[in-house]
Amino acid sequence: MTAAVALEVSNVARHFGGLVALRDVSFKVREGEVMGLIGPNGAGKSTLFEIISGNLAPSGGQVSFFGRDCTTDPAHVRRRAGLCRTFQKVRLFESMSVSENIAVSARQCLPPGHDWRAEVVSILARLRLSGQADRMPSEITLADRKKVEIGRAIAGFCRVLMLDESLSGLTHEEAEELIGEILALNRDTGITVIVVEHVLSVLAAMVKRLVVLHNATVIADGAPGEVAHDPVVIEAYLGTKANALR
Ligand SMILES: Nc1ncnc2c1ncn2[C@@H]1O[C@H](COP(=O)(O)OP(=O)(O)O)[C@@H](O)[C@H]1O
Ligand SMILES: [Mg+2]
Repeated sequence: MTAAVALEVSNVARHFGGLVALRDVSFKVREGEVMGLIGPNGAGKSTLFEIISGNLAPSGGQVSFFGRDCTTDPAHVRRRAGLCRTFQKVRLFESMSVSENIAVSARQCLPPGHDWRAEVVSILARLRLSGQADRMPSEITLADRKKVEIGRAIAGFCRVLMLDESLSGLTHEEAEELIGEILALNRDTGITVIVVEHVLSVLAAMVKRLVVLHNATVIADGAPGEVAHDPVVIEAYLGTKANALR
C-alpha cells in the first residue's frame, strides 16, 4: 500500500518586492519519508520552510498537510496539528535550562491531560540529552544546542519534522551522530522528515530522495544518484559541488 501524502506543496510562489524568492514550487512528501531539500545559499529553502510552517504567507500556491489545505492556517495551528520545524539560526531560551526549553514546548503543544513532564524526560532520553538536562544552553556544544532545538520542535505532537540546516556548523562526527538520531527518530516513530542542507554530500548519504531548489524553483527531484548526474543540477552547482554527491 502506498503511504499517505504527508505534505503537498503546489505551485508556491513568494516575492519580496521585486525579488522572486520562490516560483512555481511543487512537490509531495509521503508519510514516513526522509527527504532532502538542497540548493545553494539564497535558493529559497528557508523561505519555503517559513511558508510551509505558516510564518510567512505565499504570494501564490497552496500547502496541504495530510490532504487538508492549510495555506491560511496560522503557524500555531499547524504546529499543534504536528507540522514542526527548526530554524536555521538556533533559537533557544538562553535563561532556561535544556529541560526547561523542551518543557515550554511540551506544555504548549501536548493535548490537555497529557503528562508534559514525561514527554520532556522521553525526549531528553531519545536525543541523548539526559545528562545535559539541567545545563544552560550557553554551557553546551552547538551540536547539543541543535538537538535541543529538535527536541523543542518534536515535543507534544509531531508528524512532519522540517530541519533547516541542522547539520551545518557541526564536525563530521557530530553530523554523523545527529543524522543517526534523526534516522532513528524516523524509524522508531514514523515521523516524516524534510532536511534542508546546502552541502550535497551530507544529505546524499542520509536520504533516498532529493529535491533541488535553485534560483527560486525546483530543478530536480529524485534519488541522490540520479540527481547527481542531472546536467541541470551539475550546472547549478558548477560541477565541483555536484561531485560531492557521488
Ligand atoms: N524577509 C525577506 N525580505 C526580503 N528578502 C528576503 C527575505 N527572506 C528571504 N529573502 C531573500 O529571498 C531569497 C531566498 O532566501 P532564503 O529562503 O533564505 O534562501 P536559502 O535558505 O536557500 O539560503 C534570498 O535572495 C533572500 O535574500
Ligand atoms: Mg536558509
